[in-house]
Amino acid sequence: MGNYGSWRIDGDNKQISFFLTVLLINVTAMVWYSIVLSRDIDGSPIKSIEPQSAFLGKIHLNPINNIVYIKTHKTASTSLHCILCRYGYKNRLSFLFSRLNRDNGHLRKTALRPSRFLPPIGNTGNSSSFKYNILTGHVTYSRRRIGSFMESNPKYITILREPARQIESHMNFFRQRKRVMNGLRLFTENATKFENGGNAGSRNNQIVDLGLTLSETANETIINETILKLDKEFDLVLIAEYFDESLVLLKRILHWSFDDILYLVKNQRGHRENITDDFRPKIYKWSRADVLLYQYFYERLWTRIEQYGPGFEADLAFFRHRLREINNWCSTSQKVVVNKAYKSKQLEFTSKNNSTFCQHLAYSSNDWYKHIAIRQDRNAF
Ligand SMILES: *[C@@H]1O[C@H](CO)[C@@H](O)[C@H](O)[C@H]1NC(C)=O
Ligand SMILES: *[C@@H]1O[C@H](CO)[C@@H](O)[C@H](O)[C@H]1NC(C)=O
Ligand SMILES: *[C@@H]1O[C@H](CO)[C@@H](O)[C@H](O)[C@H]1NC(C)=O
Ligand SMILES: *[C@@H]1O[C@H](CO)[C@@H](O)[C@H](O)[C@H]1NC(C)=O
Ligand SMILES: *[C@@H]1O[C@H](CO)[C@@H](O)[C@H](O)[C@H]1NC(C)=O
Ligand SMILES: *[C@@H]1O[C@H](CO)[C@@H](O)[C@H](O)[C@H]1NC(C)=O
Ligand SMILES: *[C@@H]1O[C@H](CO)[C@@H](O)[C@H](O)[C@H]1NC(C)=O
Repeated sequence: MGNYGSWRIDGDNKQISFFLTVLLINVTAMVWYSIVLSRDIDGSPIKSIEPQSAFLGKIHLNPINNIVYIKTHKTASTSLHCILCRYGYKNRLSFLFSRLNRDNGHLRKTALRPSRFLPPIGNTGNSSSFKYNILTGHVTYSRRRIGSFMESNPKYITILREPARQIESHMNFFRQRKRVMNGLRLFTENATKFENGGNAGSRNNQIVDLGLTLSETANETIINETILKLDKEFDLVLIAEYFDESLVLLKRILHWSFDDILYLVKNQRGHRENITDDFRPKIYKWSRADVLLYQYFYERLWTRIEQYGPGFEADLAFFRHRLREINNWCSTSQKVVVNKAYKSKQLEFTSKNNSTFCQHLAYSSNDWYKHIAIRQDRNAF
């Protein structure tokens, strides 16, 4: 790669370097397609051959099955949640899900007590000795506590999103607009009032999901130390704006196959984003801890892509080719449904193709919870 832009709080050059990077990747991908894939494209659903670099070091040999995914709020993180559910279900792994939250199994902010968990597969005994392969979902990160419920040496991952977009999305989702706008106005008038971190839903909520308390978000020394600590503790921090790139990195870390990281691509047309030039800098001041967090791991992502080696672009191009192929085969449609519990809208997929593969790809997190819960606890529903 070499030629990536850094993400800056105030710079317009961000857009340009994003654009150049995307352009570079696309051009490489197009050249690569025309050379490598032209043989394959005759409309028939043959399984594509993975590119050379994917085989280097025989990486599928020991796939990682123990994973902790801390799902941050409104960071396009449901796709990743569903990828993990699909992989774990296919490989008969046990999920650490709440047995009380029957909507989707997320633990959220409830205290982590084994009596509240679904038992692992085949286990009806003493809940204090339960061990799990995968934790995926909303839960506040606390490494020691979470680690104590997991099978040995899990990989830790999470995902971040550009803070202004994340807050915009959060505001729509939870109908928090008024509250956030009000907090933002007070903050702009007198920031001292927020010296102890403040108390406004969306503020710095990515780093709070990762274990920082609200009052700690007011101390930049602590923020910076926490970011470095997270970098040591997490095996990968994905970036939502570069989801495919992040997944290619994840695939290598977990020794998975390309098919393991597939997902259904959202049609962006219905997507609304109206962050104004006025709103963005205000949010950056207001959610400074999240800005520092995002900035750090944005750069970290591109360093990792450089370290991946020259095969990265071919792997990414292959993955995107496979995504298109799968999205065609499964002929998915999407519709917006209203989630009454959260008074919010969410996207659901349906696939016209009845293969298990396509059906599983189209499952929502609620669908996954039902299937996983029934497997782990026959009396779940
Ligand atoms: C469950 O296991 C814990 C620790 O392994 C033990 O202290 C406790 O007595 C056990 N409870 C039952 C009901 O067997
Ligand atoms: C800002 O808020 C602080 C803490 O509440 C207060 O002491 C200070 O007088 C306020 N400053 C202004 C200019 O209102
Ligand atoms: C911020 O945290 C650091 C490290 O814990 C501490 O030394 C410092 O006094 C704190 N600063 C403020 C303003 O509280
Ligand atoms: C925290 O890190 C940022 C980015 O590296 C830096 O600009 C800032 O000065 C640091 N703040 C402190 C208090 O160390
Ligand atoms: C986005 O648009 C909505 C309605 O069109 C408006 O109420 C809201 O203030 C806008 N958001 C921002 C951040 O400007
Ligand atoms: C349905 O999906 C499978 C892959 O799971 C694929 O092999 C098959 O060709 C698809 N059927 C159609 C009609 O596209
Ligand atoms: C898929 O399954 C449904 C229900 O089992 C059935 O009605 C439908 O005809 C099937 N579609 C195809 C293309 O096989």
